[in-house]
Amino acid sequence: MKLELADHTILVTGASRGIGRATALALADAGATVAVHYGQSREAAREVADQCGDGAKPIQADLSDLEATDRLFANVVDTFGPVDALVLNAGVAVPTPLDAETEDWHESWTDTMHVNLRAPELLCRHALPHFREHGGGRLISIASRAAFRGDTPDYMTYAASKAGLVALTRSVARGFGDDGVKAFTIAPGFVRTDMAQDFIDEYGEAHATSDLAIDDLTVPEDVAPFVVFLASGYADHATGATIDVNAGSYVH
Ligand SMILES: NC(=O)c1ccc[n+]([C@@H]2O[C@H](COP(=O)([O-])OP(=O)(O)OC[C@H]3O[C@@H](n4cnc5c(N)ncnc54)[C@H](OP(=O)(O)O)[C@@H]3O)[C@@H](O)[C@H]2O)c1
Repeated sequence: MKLELADHTILVTGASRGIGRATALALADAGATVAVHYGQSREAAREVADQCGDGAKPIQADLSDLEATDRLFANVVDTFGPVDALVLNAGVAVPTPLDAETEDWHESWTDTMHVNLRAPELLCRHALPHFREHGGGRLISIASRAAFRGDTPDYMTYAASKAGLVALTRSVARGFGDDGVKAFTIAPGFVRTDMAQDFIDEYGEAHATSDLAIDDLTVPEDVAPFVVFLASGYADHATGATIDVNAGSYVH
């Protein structure tokens, strides 16, 4: 079996850093042309696009801004032509303690929902008719283990947003299969990135590794191959499925 993505154009959101970066590089390595989306990290995104080659380009949109998000998919199509797959990876994890000031509480929930759930919803609103028009497409959402088992009290916002993303992705699988659309969720546990580092700084690395069945913390390169596989078409009959990439924490 050879995973071959030549002639595939794939939009990866949040591809400037972390899991998105590793995913963009792995997709490009399999031959895909990658739209390297970023928010703030312009230079990092440019470097990822340069490393990807094969026509990859950085493309900016602040996913906390709904109008900018609404324009993103059309901008990608204008720049790259038809899109074959959308990887919903960009995300934020903002600690939101119960005793936060009311204004801060609202701001955290709003910002988290905008980036983690509303941006995916808006991107799907444009991607699904596009996929239908072009005979199909694949949606791959990077959710989280937190969607299924909840999170710590400070990260209830995050868990709720990711549960919404899972439901959105399953609804796409369920409702758009006749249009040739397949949709998958990847649910990582802790992955060593800037996002996880914030959590590790707060709770300690032992907290992150204590419930793993294998010794080492997952890194972005452990997640990226699953996206390549799901994008390849070999997994199409698993549409609607969730792949847990959490170093065995459910069986430990
Ligand atoms: N790390 C983990 O332990 C873990 C576990 C489970 C699930 N996940 C999920 O995996 C995905 C990637 O996480 P990561 O750990 O790789 O995070 P990361 O290293 O913090 O990178 C986040 C990415 O999202 C982009 N992003 C964030 N806010 C944005 C905004 N407002 N507009 C546009 N882009 C934005 C960032 O782009 P810029 O820097 O360019 O703004 C960056 O490329 C997220 O959905 C996360 O929830 C992570």
